[in-house]
Amino acid sequence: MVPIACFLAFLALATARPHGTRQVSSTAKAGLAWPNGDFDNVDQYRSTGKVQWYYTWGPSPIDTDLEFVPMLWGTNQVSEWSHSISNTIQQHHVTHALGFNEPQQPGQSNLSPTDAASIWKAQLEPLKAQGILLGSPAPSSAPSGKQWLLDWQQACGGWNGNGSTGGCTVDFVALHWYDVNSTAFVQYLEDFHATFQKPIWVTEWACQNYNQVDQQCSQQDIVDFLNATQSFMDSTDWIERYAWFGAMRNMSGVNEWDALMDSSGHITFLGQQYIGAATPNVSANPQPGVVHGGDGEQGGPAAVSSASRAGASLVALIITAVIISTLA
Ligand SMILES: *[C@@H]1O[C@H](CO)[C@@H](O)[C@H](O)[C@H]1NC(C)=O
Ligand SMILES: *[C@@H]1O[C@H](CO)[C@@H](O)[C@H](O)[C@H]1NC(C)=O
Ligand SMILES: *[C@@H]1O[C@H](CO)[C@@H](O)[C@H](O)[C@H]1NC(C)=O
Ligand SMILES: *[C@@H]1O[C@H](CO)[C@@H](O)[C@H](O)[C@H]1NC(C)=O
Ligand SMILES: *[C@@H]1O[C@H](CO)[C@@H](O)[C@H](O)[C@H]1NC(C)=O
Repeated sequence: MVPIACFLAFLALATARPHGTRQVSSTAKAGLAWPNGDFDNVDQYRSTGKVQWYYTWGPSPIDTDLEFVPMLWGTNQVSEWSHSISNTIQQHHVTHALGFNEPQQPGQSNLSPTDAASIWKAQLEPLKAQGILLGSPAPSSAPSGKQWLLDWQQACGGWNGNGSTGGCTVDFVALHWYDVNSTAFVQYLEDFHATFQKPIWVTEWACQNYNQVDQQCSQQDIVDFLNATQSFMDSTDWIERYAWFGAMRNMSGVNEWDALMDSSGHITFLGQQYIGAATPNVSANPQPGVVHGGDGEQGGPAAVSSASRAGASLVALIITAVIISTLA
């Protein structure tokens, strides 16, 4: 549910309060999940100021003064992370960091709760001493996701959101969600919030049906879905930040109409909607969960023109960017 590829205008959010609930900024929620390195133009998403942060599924930033949130994707990044994170925090004024990517998915970071707890304590927990706020490992929305997070909490020796030492401090819960029903999306977030009692970051979401692959969103369904979900998050104080999937030329099998970038690297109309530069033409009576597309992979702006490069070269590009920034 995520590309394999995934590899300062900072607005300070309120500092931690004693009881695990934190004051949440009502602005600066929208961000970019950005696998494009410096190859594509990030500034085209900044014209309104609504987008205030980005992450790259890894420890390496791009060349922009948007607020960078480093992620420790999984074991394959531990070495890079441990060598670079202190410098990155200083040079990029980092205030938040993200944990593992879809740890309960074999095709993603694929970590047992126990291993994840131990890597967390070695690599992420020490950042608390520098004042960094930490986001939980981000499970996919498969039913195993919430259970994994609960098991990880146990493996850590209990969450440590209350200022004591030890365990795994979770300042906010990060999660991913892929499906087609905006009402179900809201219910999912409410359940996570009720369960974990932390602010929520949705670090990937899109209108994509993984359960019935021939029941995908049409372009209009996606306009409606983005509008409904983004409106909810913009107006809900315990939703701290979000990043749609995605701002990329190749959607890695996710419905191409979800793309915020076309195959030439330009912002799409949906991208204009996402950043608040265009008022969406929402349906008069949208019906959450009712879809009008077919196989979403066949259509959409990112698939319209011929591929400028294949997914493999995108991976190579990102790895190159990572290497270059590591050497720099
Ligand atoms: C943190 O504090 C809250 C409220 O006092 C409490 O319900 C919760 O159990 C505490 N969590 C931990 C991990 O101590
Ligand atoms: C949702 O659509 C309505 C109607 O076009 C618009 O007024 C509103 O700004 C949109 N909200 C978002 C978050 O795009
Ligand atoms: C807006 O969308 C509706 C269908 O939901 C369509 O009938 C109408 O032509 C669209 N208007 C514009 C200006 O695109
Ligand atoms: C959308 O989700 C809501 C909440 O789970 C549910 O009540 C509704 O039936 C769903 N709609 C469809 C068309 O599946
Ligand atoms: C997108 O990436 C996939 C691999 O994830 C590749 O098979 C496909 O050809 C790519 N499509 C385009 C349009 O580049």
